[in-house]
Amino acid sequence: MAFISLRQLLDHAAEFNYGVPAFNINNLEQIQAIMEAAEKTRSPVILQASAGARKYAGEPYLRHMVLAAVETHPHIPVVLHQDHGASPAVCTQSIRSGFTSVMMDGSLREDAKTPASYDYNVDVTHKVCEIAHAIGVSVEGELGCLGSLESGQAGEEDGVGAEGVLTHDMMLTDPAQAKDFVARTGVDALAIAIGTSHGAYKFTREPSGDILDIDRIAAIHEAVPNTHLVMHGSSSVPQEWLAIIREHGGDLRETFGVPVEEIQRGIRSGVRKVNIDTDIRLAMTGAMRRSFAKDPSEFDPRKALIAAKNAARDLCAQRFEAFGCSGHADRIKPVPLELMVKRYH
Ligand code: 13P
Repeated sequence: MAFISLRQLLDHAAEFNYGVPAFNINNLEQIQAIMEAAEKTRSPVILQASAGARKYAGEPYLRHMVLAAVETHPHIPVVLHQDHGASPAVCTQSIRSGFTSVMMDGSLREDAKTPASYDYNVDVTHKVCEIAHAIGVSVEGELGCLGSLESGQAGEEDGVGAEGVLTHDMMLTDPAQAKDFVARTGVDALAIAIGTSHGAYKFTREPSGDILDIDRIAAIHEAVPNTHLVMHGSSSVPQEWLAIIREHGGDLRETFGVPVEEIQRGIRSGVRKVNIDTDIRLAMTGAMRRSFAKDPSEFDPRKALIAAKNAARDLCAQRFEAFGCSGHADRIKPVPLELMVKRYH
């Protein structure tokens, strides 16, 4: 079984200067798509499940589908990561259920809506690090609230997102504070705010420096060189998939995501984990709409689901390649979590 910790994977990524896409999972076809893309490109994998995924599929289904993925692809190292844990209790439950990495998102209070104080964030994140590191599980924290620098809105997505209008200060991670946060919590990875947000509606135009602050990544990386930086809200919102969705009855307004070249620039500046959910959802929705439209007499949902899986697989393979992840699966020798414990003492 090739489960590994996020710490091990991102240490490797830092050593060899690549980034790892962290894809959100909710169902069978998404997991198969990601694993097939990883197999094809020989890439290590981060599968991440949010509270929304656990609500949709149920924790036992997710756990068993991921076990099936690892059994089917024994040579692909897999990190099972919990996305946006709202409290130490949620993180502890995920650790118990076999996750090898958890995110404690203390930038928001437990309701996943109200921006939290810095002290609250330090307190809950430190607590989770103590619990997780005792058994070799990695921890991602978040500093700064994800939100659009264009509108000041965080925008709720899948149950997570600050409510109301945020100031620029809240939406941009401060390098000096990042240094203090890492020293006080001991996180392995840090999600930073640089103007990205979750979901399909990130920017109303191709993003430039005033609304997507890629330059800030280098300053944060310099302040916390041994902590792996995480870019949330990193879907590129492919225009070709928006067009396919619209051509087949969908109604999505004009929108832009984070261009792949900007993510590559982020990776060169120190980003190691790149969170992607929306792009998979867009590709699958587009492929299913097209499949149903092409053959209205078809009544077997597997036809549309296979089209969706293939579309997601191709998208994931492109991201593995673009982030420099390809080929690294075979270069990682899985370290059991029990041995990762030593790293923290
Ligand atoms: P996207 O909505 O841009 O795919 O971001 C997903 C994410 O950051 C999950 O934590």
